[in-house]
Parts: sequence; C-alpha cells; structure tokens
Amino acid sequence: MGAVSGRGRFAEWADRQEPRLRCPAVVALALAGDVAAAADLALTVAPGSRDEWQERLLRDVRGRDRELVVAHVAQGAESANRQLVGYARLGLVPPGDSGSAPPGYYVLGLVVERAWRRRGIAEALLQQLIALASERTGELWSFYDVRDTASAALHRRVGFRPERRGTIGFPGLPSTSVDELVRLSLPRDTARPRSDGAGWAAGLSVQGFPAALPLAGLRLGLEPLRVAHAEEMAPLLDDAKLHAFIGGEPATLSDLRERYRRQVVDPPSDGVQRWLNWVVRRRRDGRAVGTVQATVIRRDRALTAEVAWVVATEYQGQGYAREAAQVLVAWLREQGVETVMAHVHPDHQASQGVARAVGLTPTLLLVDGEVRWQG
Ligand SMILES: CC(C)(COP(=O)(O)OP(=O)(O)OC[C@H]1O[C@@H](n2cnc3c(N)ncnc32)[C@H](O)[C@@H]1OP(=O)(O)O)[C@@H](O)C(=O)NCCC(=O)NCCS
Repeated sequence: MGAVSGRGRFAEWADRQEPRLRCPAVVALALAGDVAAAADLALTVAPGSRDEWQERLLRDVRGRDRELVVAHVAQGAESANRQLVGYARLGLVPPGDSGSAPPGYYVLGLVVERAWRRRGIAEALLQQLIALASERTGELWSFYDVRDTASAALHRRVGFRPERRGTIGFPGLPSTSVDELVRLSLPRDTARPRSDGAGWAAGLSVQGFPAALPLAGLRLGLEPLRVAHAEEMAPLLDDAKLHAFIGGEPATLSDLRERYRRQVVDPPSDGVQRWLNWVVRRRRDGRAVGTVQATVIRRDRALTAEVAWVVATEYQGQGYAREAAQVLVAWLREQGVETVMAHVHPDHQASQGVARAVGLTPTLLLVDGEVRWQG
C-alpha cells in the first residue's frame, strides 16, 4: 500500500449518503488465471509495468508467505461471465526488508475498481485477508498515506489502530513521505476450528498441506465446511437416491453433525493426509446444493488428491457438480497437487461426465467395485 501514493490515486473522502446494499462480490483466493485482470486493476492506481505487476501478483498466488484474495462480480443475469473488481494482497515482510517498520504480515495492497466502490467490497476483501492472517500470526500490519482518509476509515472500521506516523521506508517498496502505520491485533484462534466447529474448516497450511478456503465459480461458491452446516445439509442429504451408486445410508442430522465434527474439528493429523470439505452454494439465491471434498495425500514430496462430489437430487442436471468439481480441481492444481483421482461406479454416467470434465480418465483399477479415474 506504500506503493499507492500521491493525490488522485486514492479515493476521495465522502460521507455515506444512502444505506449500503449487500456486498455484490464473491471474495475468494485468487488463481493464476486472475492475475492478468488483477494486474490491470493495479495499474489504475499504482506505478509499474504490466509485466512487473503480473509477476508480483503471481508470486502472491504461488508464494508460501503470501496470499492474493480477489473479488468478482457476475456480469449478466445468468452469471455467464465474471469480472474481477478488486483484490487484496497479504505478505510477510521479513526483518531485513521491513526497514524502519516492524517485520510481520502486512496488507500489501488493496484496490477496488472505481465503479464498484462503496459497496463493501474492500471491507470483504480485508476481512478475508484477516482470516488468512489469523492462521499465521497474532498481528496484522498495514499502512497508507495519511491524506488517504478513505483508507483510514476503512482500516478503522475493521479494527486496525494507528501505531505510528511518519516516513516509513520499506526497502524494495516505494515509500511515501507521510505514511500511517496501523496494526490489528488478531486473536489467533478466531479463524481456527473451535470446539463447536464454528471457525474455518481444518486450519490453514498445516504441515504444508493446503487448507479449505472459500472458492468461487461462475454460479457457485464453495464454502469451507463447518459443523453448523449439518442443519442445512441434513434435509438435502437425507435421500436414498443419492446412495444408489455410492453405497451407505442417508445420514440423520445427528450422524451428519458427528461426521462434520470429525471432519472439521478433529481431523486425523498423521502428516500424510488431510481432509478438505466444502458446502457448494448457489450464488443466485444462496441455497446450498451439495458438497465437494478432497483428501489430499502426501507421498514423498508429491501431493495427490482424491476428490468426490454430491449434488442434492433437486439440483441435479444443471451442471453444478461439474462446475464445483472444476473449481475444486483447478484450485488443487494451483496448490501443487500433481495427481487427482476419483472413484466412480461403472454405471454412474453423470459422475463419469464430471470426472471427464475435470480432466480425469478411467484406469483399469477397480476399488470396492468402483473404477479409479485419474489425471
Ligand atoms: C480504498 C478502497 C480500497 C475502498 O474500496 P471500497 O470497496 O469502496 O470500500 P468499502 O465499500 O468496502 O468501504 C467500507 C468502509 O470504508 C470506509 N470508506 C471506504 N471508502 C471511503 C470513502 N471514499 N470515503 C469515506 N469512507 C470510505 C467507509 O467506512 C466504508 O463504509 P460505508 O461505505 O458503509 O461508509 C478504494 O477506494 C480504492 O481502491 N482506492 C484506490 C486504491 C487505494 O487507495 N487503496 C488503499 C491503499 S491503503
């Protein structure tokens, strides 16, 4: 954010006139495919070339101590297209690079496209960044030009408190002459799974595994599973038809609660595998339509994921499983998963279609009567 300097680069201060509408954007971790649009947005407020920004943002997507969170809005009625309208960057500034400022995790950039401002998008991006930071550190830093009263208001609103004013030089970042350094104290466990499972599912980046984070498709959002989802999911999953090909029995509400608790609150942590679960929610009306899961397994250094999907009977036939699985598999690949597999009953045409759509092909291996698909 120190890169953003000079009058005209930041938003004009303006008091809110009318009540704020609900945030229209879906906020999610960026994928490499988001980088080009994010770089274009960066160039509207910050110096540098397109190549430099693309490289920098790609490092955020791929880097270990960095995150890039993006906001998309749907264009057109059926959300056939989506447009990137904002991003926020999180990064660890080590002691050698922090100059006169404290080392630690910083909000390194936050931009919302002009036409989409004052709708809560920056606030939603910051909240997401805070959740990501909470998993790694007890405090989050940010800074802005003191003349940038809009940024000051935004930071105050989400709980940042001023720490210091003056010239803050970060080697490698252009410094501004009048920066305000702000700090947010993070209760380290707010985003961790709590005993009631109300936090994010299964922590972040534990032992080098990717963690379940919100993901976004065109029509659907993938929401990290929480125990509280059992209430909403039980009526959808209490359906014998769903078990025609996968065996087992429909689960009762208490079964489901117990299962979600096992998956979310107290997952096995043998350092070899990690369970990641999401509820799939339709954006148009906020209805939950199913679930997806990935079991990420580490052998030697390589990551493999076994994926599975369920779409409730009343929402089937609309390509939701395909979209959710595509979002999931694209994200897994971004996390470094080399091999993705799924086990599909040989007569289950719909699921075979989904497996094919995410780039898997059938192998000759049968596991418990199901064909292993791999890619
Ligand atoms: C600063 C910026 C990211 C805010 O984006 P945004 O999506 O419009 O912000 P939000 O709608 O989430 O605002 C949340 C709150 O922040 C404060 N705020 C944001 N913009 C403001 C403005 N122009 N004037 C006064 N308060 C403002 C308000 O408290 C607002 O809540 P309210 O709208 O209910 O009053 C955006 O203006 C921007 O991209 N500016 C250019 C780049 C920049 O300066 N980045 C920040 C560097 S730290």
